[in-house]
Parts: sequence; C-alpha cells; structure tokens
Amino acid sequence: MAHLVSKAASLAPAGAKLAMGRTLSTKAADNIKYFKVYRWDPEQKQKPYVSTYPVDLSECGPMVLDALLKIKNEQDPTLTFRRSCREGICGSCAMNIDGRNTLACLCYIDRNSSSIKVNPLPHMYVVKDLVPDMTNFYDQYKSIEPWLKTKTPKKDDKEHLQSVEDRKKLDGMYECIMCACCSTACPSYWWNGDKYLGPAVLMQAYRWIEDSRDEYTRERLEQLDDAFKLYRCHTIMNCSQTCPKHLNPGKAIAHIKKRMMALH
Ligand code: SF4
Ligand code: SF4
Ligand code: FES
Repeated sequence: MAHLVSKAASLAPAGAKLAMGRTLSTKAADNIKYFKVYRWDPEQKQKPYVSTYPVDLSECGPMVLDALLKIKNEQDPTLTFRRSCREGICGSCAMNIDGRNTLACLCYIDRNSSSIKVNPLPHMYVVKDLVPDMTNFYDQYKSIEPWLKTKTPKKDDKEHLQSVEDRKKLDGMYECIMCACCSTACPSYWWNGDKYLGPAVLMQAYRWIEDSRDEYTRERLEQLDDAFKLYRCHTIMNCSQTCPKHLNPGKAIAHIKKRMMALH
C-alpha cells in the first residue's frame, strides 16, 4: 500500500526523531548541517514522520545527494531513496528540497542555513521514504507513444533524415530526463493527475508533434484534444520555474494549444 504525500503529511512532525549517529567534536559541530528527512515505511504500520540527521559538511561532498548517501552509509541504512547517475542524467533522484522540486545530485547544500528539509516529490503516492510511485506518470508517458511513427513505406534501410533547421526545433525538449519535477510542481496535476497528462508528458507529446520525420502529427494532436488531458493547464508556469534542466514545458504546452487551434 502506498502513502500519498500531502502538504499536511510532509509537514507532520508527529513522531519526529533525531538520529544521532555519533558524538561530534566542537570543531565538527561548527560545520554541522541538520537534514530533516521524510520517512515512511509501509511495513512499520505507522504514520509518516521526520528523521533529523546531523552531517559534518567538512566530511561531505557539496550536493544534497552526497549528504543522503553519507547518512545512509554511516548513520541509517534504512533510509531509502533513488539515485543512479549522480550527474543529472537519469532523473531518479528527483525530490523536494527545502520546498523546491529538484534533483538531489544537482542541488548544492545551502551552507547559510542550519537545516535542510527533504521530502518526496509532492502529491505522489510514496513507496517508501523518498521514493515516489511513478506508475501513473510512466503510464501517461506511454500513452503518448513517444517514438517515431511513419506511414510511408521505406525504400531502403537508411536513417530517417532531417534538416539541420528541423532538428533544431527539438532543442529544449529532447534534453528532458523525465524526472517529473515539473509535473509534481503543477497544481493542476496535483488535483487531476489521473486525467491531466501534466507538463513533462505534454512536452514529450509536443516533441513528437514537432518532429519533421513523424507522420502522425494530426493523430497525435487529436489524441490530446480533450478537456482534461491538455486543457487543465492554466499557464501558472510552476513547471518551467522548477525544471532542474532549465527547460520550458509550459511553453511547449502553449505551442500544442496553438497547433490545436489550427486543427479546428
Ligand atoms: S521538463 Fe524538466 S522537470 Fe520536467 S521532466 Fe523534463 S527535465 Fe524534469
Ligand atoms: S503552466 Fe500548465 S503545466 Fe505548467 S505548472 Fe502551470 S498549469 Fe501546470
Ligand atoms: S542521480 Fe541521476 S539525476 Fe540525480
């Protein structure tokens, strides 16, 4: 059973506990940063709580992911989170750090505050601790058929060619790593995540609509022509503000709406 992270749950200090791994020297104490981390284990049959871990920054790498790995290795092996590449490519370390959705491996530890709050991506069901359930998000991605589709039979087995200008139209979209930071920052996705596709998936839909090699443009647009799938976007732009890859999914959605108008 998964647990839904709501604002109330992520703030809940009930049962908060301080995980003190070892005694700290006075010198080390000057460099201590406290990480307040959301915890929930479905097997423990208890409500979510916050664990606070002290980390000596003089013995830690500069990123929040470095601190989480240090905590897991040295203080609490039960702390659970996803990570793989540690360089902003795989998208798996997406989480909410001090109120902002971002990648833990690209997020510098703020040295000007005494503590950092680390929560799972908001309004997602939680599998355990900082691990969100991405099933709905990936099902939505699959629904837009994110691959090249053609109708014209090929005469040879060469690549599908594209001009330099047409290839450029995909810039700012192909770089997306599907981390879901944008979708889980979107109020419309919070309330209608089962029906509204959200900014990440919509930008990928537009990536294929814009691809000069694809021959299913009309069908792709028709598939999105739905009160919920596309039109729940109200141009609030939280998505573009939070993207750790500095992409602009809100703009891509605006382009889809424009293309949709031309279709009618
Ligand atoms: S647009 Fe940015 S925030 Fe959204 S999924 Fe892609 S990389 Fe992540
Ligand atoms: S611009 Fe659209 S997709 Fe982006 S946060 Fe706002 S409502 Fe959500
Ligand atoms: S570990 Fe891959 S993006 Fe952070």
